[in-house]
Amino acid sequence: MTALPRILIVGGGQGIGRAIAEAYADRCTVWTRAGGVDATDPAALARAFAAFQAAHGAPYALVHAVGDFAELPLLGTDLDTYRHVFASNVDSVFLTLRTIVPAMVAAGRPGRVVLFAAAGVDRQRGMRRAPVYFAAKAAVVQLARSLAAEVAPHAITVNVIAPGLIVHPHSHQESQRRLLPKIPAGRTGTVDDVVGTVRHLLSPAAAYVTGEVLTIDGGLQL
Ligand SMILES: NC(=O)c1ccc[n+]([C@@H]2O[C@H](COP(=O)([O-])OP(=O)(O)OC[C@H]3O[C@@H](n4cnc5c(N)ncnc54)[C@H](OP(=O)(O)O)[C@@H]3O)[C@@H](O)[C@H]2O)c1
Repeated sequence: MTALPRILIVGGGQGIGRAIAEAYADRCTVWTRAGGVDATDPAALARAFAAFQAAHGAPYALVHAVGDFAELPLLGTDLDTYRHVFASNVDSVFLTLRTIVPAMVAAGRPGRVVLFAAAGVDRQRGMRRAPVYFAAKAAVVQLARSLAAEVAPHAITVNVIAPGLIVHPHSHQESQRRLLPKIPAGRTGTVDDVVGTVRHLLSPAAAYVTGEVLTIDGGLQL
C-alpha cells in the first residue's frame, strides 16, 4: 500500500492548526513549541525536519498556522511586543519556509504551502486595532507571493488564508464579541470554515491557484 501524501502542520496544537491536524489525522505531523519545535528557532526546525525527512521524506504540504496577536495601538506598543509579534508571525514563516520548501522542490513532485495572514491585511488602509500584527501579516503575504512565483515552475503552490474572527477556545473572544455586529454574515467563523478552504487548497483541484490571499471573514471587510 502506498503512503498517503504527508502534511506537516506547524502550530497544529490548538485552534485552527489543530482543526486542520484533525482533518488530516491519518497523514499529518504536528509541530508546536509545547512539543519541542519552536518555529522561531532555526536549529530546532532543522532538527525536527531531519527527523521528519528520515521518516517520511519531503512533505506534500506545509501548513504554517503560528502567529501571535497583539491588540495595541502603534504608539502603545513597546519594543519587546513589536519584536515578539514579528518573530511569531514573520520570522517563523521565513525560517519554516527556508527549512522545508527546498526539500519539497528537490522531491520533484507537486506540493502545497498554506500560510496564515488576517482578514483586511491586503487592503490599502490602516489597521488601528492591531497595527504591528497587521504589518507582520502584510509581510507574510508578500513573502508568500514572492515564493509562489519562485516555486511555481516546480508545481508547488503557495497561498495565504486570511481569517476574520474565528472562534475557538483560545481565540480573542472579547474583541470577537465586540466586532460581531459588524459581520454581514451575522456570525463569527468556526475552525471548520477554515478547514474547508485548506482542504480545497491541498486538493488536486487547486493546482493552478497560487500567490492568492483567501479571506474567510463572513464579509467583515466588505
Ligand atoms: N483565530 C482567529 O480568529 C484568527 C484571526 C486572524 C488570523 N489568525 C491567524 O491564523 C493562525 C492560527 O490562529 P489560531 O487562532 O489558531 O492561533 P493559536 O490559537 O494561537 O494557535 C497557534 C498554534 O501555534 C503554536 N505556536 C505558537 N508559537 C509557536 C512557535 N514559535 N513555534 C511553534 N509553534 C508555535 C501554538 O502551540 P504552542 O503554544 O505549544 O507553541 C498553537 O498550537 C495564526 O497565524 C493567526 O495569527 C487567526
